[in-house]
Amino acid sequence: MLKITMVGTGYVGLVSGACLADFGNRVICVDIDEKRIEQVARGVMPIYEPGLKELVERNHAAGRLVFTTDLDAAVRDSIVIFSAVGTPMRDDGSADLTSVFQVAKDIAASMNGYKVIVQKSTVPVGTSEEVSGIIRQNLTKDVPFDRVSNPEFLREGSAIEDFMRPNRVVIGVESERAREIMSEVYRPLYLLETPIVFTSVRSAELIKYASNAFLATKISFINEIADLCEKVGARVDTVARVMGLDGRIGSKFLHAGIGYGGSCLPKDVAAILHTADSAGVSLRVISAASDVNASRIDRLLEKLHSEIGDTKGKIIAVLGVSFKPNTDDLREAPALHLMDRLLENGATVRAYDPIAMKNAKKHYGERVAFFDDPYATTDGADACVIMTEWNEFRVLDLEKIRELLRQPVLIDCRNIYRPEEMKELGFRYHSFGR
Ligand SMILES: NC(=O)c1ccc[n+]([C@@H]2O[C@H](COP(=O)([O-])OP(=O)(O)OC[C@H]3O[C@@H](n4cnc5c(N)ncnc54)[C@H](O)[C@@H]3O)[C@@H](O)[C@H]2O)c1
Repeated sequence: MLKITMVGTGYVGLVSGACLADFGNRVICVDIDEKRIEQVARGVMPIYEPGLKELVERNHAAGRLVFTTDLDAAVRDSIVIFSAVGTPMRDDGSADLTSVFQVAKDIAASMNGYKVIVQKSTVPVGTSEEVSGIIRQNLTKDVPFDRVSNPEFLREGSAIEDFMRPNRVVIGVESERAREIMSEVYRPLYLLETPIVFTSVRSAELIKYASNAFLATKISFINEIADLCEKVGARVDTVARVMGLDGRIGSKFLHAGIGYGGSCLPKDVAAILHTADSAGVSLRVISAASDVNASRIDRLLEKLHSEIGDTKGKIIAVLGVSFKPNTDDLREAPALHLMDRLLENGATVRAYDPIAMKNAKKHYGERVAFFDDPYATTDGADACVIMTEWNEFRVLDLEKIRELLRQPVLIDCRNIYRPEEMKELGFRYHSFGR
């Protein structure tokens, strides 16, 4: 049993902390947000993630998982310290490392013996070296430490399964001692024969960005093919499905629609472009993927305008606000970009989301009218736009929706309905690439 501290109790820190405790380690989750720590210790999860509450409660009850704001005590009592704080996007696209560096200082001040300092946040190449420098400067005792880069690949909505059964675990290390300790941290995954890949710290840092940039590129690629399909009378779902049968291509991340959002892809794409820029390298493919993604909202608005004209003064019903199903995360959600554009243009926006409504209300206040179900949301609207493929939007009573709408206009940004059926039902229906 290893003693581990997880600094940052957000989407990544809380899930990783709970899963590492479930592996049999003793984990102390630390956060500066007192309310968050107090709530999670009482079993109130700060985020929506399927299965998380049960996992946290089980490990908390077994005494393997505890929550505190006392970083000092946690560090003293642990050999492995993970940092999983946020690294949001700055205006210039670079990663904001303020919290990462602050945590490094705080950890250093509490170090009472050898520690392995593990960077779990997504950070630009070279950050780990900077963090080591900060730790060295702020040590109060002359104690040794090793730095490790262990980027996280979990997806919100299936985070626990992703952490427990990952495609791979990447560990950037520089010493045999740290390598052995990290092997111990992930021991249960060895038993499941998960590929555990040891690399240099810099390679590990870049693997995370390159992976997310590739996924973003795949999405933008299929979205451009979707635009072409519309012009030449082909169907992107068929094209993508058959492309995906080629093992070299793979079927994942080939769903055309409104483009990518969320807390990771947009900011990680921006950050790798920023890193490349600083290094004097031009990443043209990734740059194009980012531009294509940014223009998806324009494509959606073109479709909307073609049906209802200018949106000024019109009522638009938005179904789904979170950036994808099974999360309440709104960061860079395409729905927010759409709603902002509609509000700017003087439209009345109504919205519904099964889980993310609380966060959405906090974000928009009175500017958007929120309703308790899809039917109340669409009642009297000029158009309905499906922005998130929540399961409940796949089984809507479409006849009812059509009757409630002032005009039978439905824009399906996730391609969840069949165009032929929607036409038969009397909708003026648009999806992407079909
Ligand atoms: N969310 C994802 O799906 C995901 C997936 C893979 C990697 N990542 C990466 O993981 C990192 C964390 O992302 P997240 O989504 O979990 O962020 P988050 O915003 O949900 O959580 C960050 C937490 O850190 C806490 N914090 C900030 N400063 C602190 C400090 N000085 N001391 C202690 N706690 C502090 C915050 O209060 C918050 O609870 C980011 O670098 C992100 O890119 C995220």
